[in-house]
Amino acid sequence: MSQGYTPAQRWLHWIIAALILPMILAGLVMVQSGLPRGLQNALFIGHKNIGTLLLILVTLRLVLRLRRGAPALPDTIPTLQRRIAEASHAALYALMLLLPLSGYIRVRAGGFPIEALDKLGLPSFVPRSDTLATAAKTVHEYGGYALMALLLAHIGAAIHHGMRRDGLWARIWPPQG
Ligand code: HEM
Repeated sequence: MSQGYTPAQRWLHWIIAALILPMILAGLVMVQSGLPRGLQNALFIGHKNIGTLLLILVTLRLVLRLRRGAPALPDTIPTLQRRIAEASHAALYALMLLLPLSGYIRVRAGGFPIEALDKLGLPSFVPRSDTLATAAKTVHEYGGYALMALLLAHIGAAIHHGMRRDGLWARIWPPQG
């Protein structure tokens, strides 16, 4: 078990946080009907391409987390709270992976572009299939709601620990370590 998150882990945490929140907002807005076409296109393009970048960043973060672990929680944290923290962090990782993956599958199986990957000449890794696209769309939508609920709980817990000044913030902030 390590003593603190590494600067790479901290930077990744804050970069991913700064990208995921606008991604959720863009996702919710861009599916509304009646939006000006130009705005909707821009939101879709931003959402698909930044989402794909997030898939890479989250994978990197997960690899670091598995190799490097997490710093031990202070002894003052009760066992039940520890278990809840561990389970919710595991669920956050799972959803942070599931969202960009299901988004990628929804778009590629539906036969749509991902502009940055297309420019790089990267082919689709999933077959064209309307059934697969529809299933991925459902997973993406409900996964998005689950992620929003967990993020709210996560941010609530962070504010709680910040107000108690129990040292948990120092594990992840400032990003440079
Ligand atoms: C962490 C990354 C991501 C988050 C948090 C996220 C979140 C969301 C949310 C909240 C919605 C609205 C769902 C609804 O109410 O219908 C949405 C829709 C959508 N997302 Fe994502 N998304 C992510 C990554 C991606 C990626 C990587 C792609 C594609 C490359 C993508 C493509 C789409 C598409 C096409 C929709 C519209 C769904 C439809 O109606 O067909 N998303 N996303």
